[in-house]
Amino acid sequence: MNRAFNFSAGPAALPTAVLERAQAELLDYQGTGMSIMEVSHRGSTFLAVAEAAEARFRSLLGISDDYAVLFLQGGATQQFSAVPLNLSAPGQTVAYVNTGAWSKKAIKEAQRYASVVVSASSEGEHFTTIPERSTWQVPSDAAYLHVCANETIGGLEFLETPDAGGVPLVGDFSSTILSRPIDVKAWDVLYAGAQKNIGPAGLTLVVVKRALLDRARGDIPALLAWKGFADEDSMLNTPPTFAWYLAGLVFEWVEQQGGLSVMAERNERKAKTLYAAIDQSDFYTAPVDPRYRSWMNVPFTLADAALDKPFLAEAEAAGLMNLKGHRSVGGMRASLYNAVGQDAVDALVTFMADFEARHG
Ligand SMILES: Cc1ncc(COP(=O)(O)O)c(C=O)c1O
Repeated sequence: MNRAFNFSAGPAALPTAVLERAQAELLDYQGTGMSIMEVSHRGSTFLAVAEAAEARFRSLLGISDDYAVLFLQGGATQQFSAVPLNLSAPGQTVAYVNTGAWSKKAIKEAQRYASVVVSASSEGEHFTTIPERSTWQVPSDAAYLHVCANETIGGLEFLETPDAGGVPLVGDFSSTILSRPIDVKAWDVLYAGAQKNIGPAGLTLVVVKRALLDRARGDIPALLAWKGFADEDSMLNTPPTFAWYLAGLVFEWVEQQGGLSVMAERNERKAKTLYAAIDQSDFYTAPVDPRYRSWMNVPFTLADAALDKPFLAEAEAAGLMNLKGHRSVGGMRASLYNAVGQDAVDALVTFMADFEARHG
């Protein structure tokens, strides 16, 4: 078996050990003679899996019982609608910081349901930086302030918790969750699609302060209302059981690695390795302000865009997969999620130096 170095932005690399365990358990889950995919979500076998996964996730992030943890479907995109519908009244002011493509999508969706104030935007700087906090305009009557904690396409990350100015703070953590410790208490709602650091696509996690669960509008679809899921342990309808099970295996793996502080050390080192290689070269450029460079998604360009195709072809031939930048920005992007090892990053920087020597 030859596992590729997979730099996909999502769905993304999963730990080999997790896939092997799922493979070993696939046909006969713990002596039941059935796959975990084949049993009722309400039966004791799956309930034990579900509860263990939630307990591990809570323990990894230090989430207290003041917060509900919801295992949902619909992707982070569904939360772009669920956030305003659960937290604001019709027409009420909601505030957003616009730091890139995912912020923009969240804003566009919120505009359907609420009166959006864009508190700060770095669109004028092509989303290469985060506007200084002192320039943000956060109305004191806003139902919440939303930020995208890590812009997966632009590679821009809030490495510190932003000051919400006294209103509830909501974060899209899709591409940074589990990459490092988070001060959960400083946030009111966190949400994340699973398909980067948590597991396969099809599962979305929402962490919401229970005190906010009564703010939802009364007329929203039951499957968008967080309270119903909180009351029913995320079993309002059939949950994505296999994805939930796999997420549990990933949480266990993170725990075995030493938890989020160890993940943070590894991820910081991987990111530093790649940014250093880019910065010491005139051939490669990383556009993002060094203060806000993402540890998880590293976009970079080549001196000559005509070399993009040969770069990608040669990288693939060297076993370095999925380095093409998002179609909206071009260039390259290396996503360095938890399952991407230092060995993958070392192989990438070696390849980049070699490519530069031949084409630079
Ligand atoms: C930061 C961020 N937010 C939201 C989304 C949308 O997630 P989904 O496709 O699960 O709806 C993505 C997807 O990559 C993302 O990276």
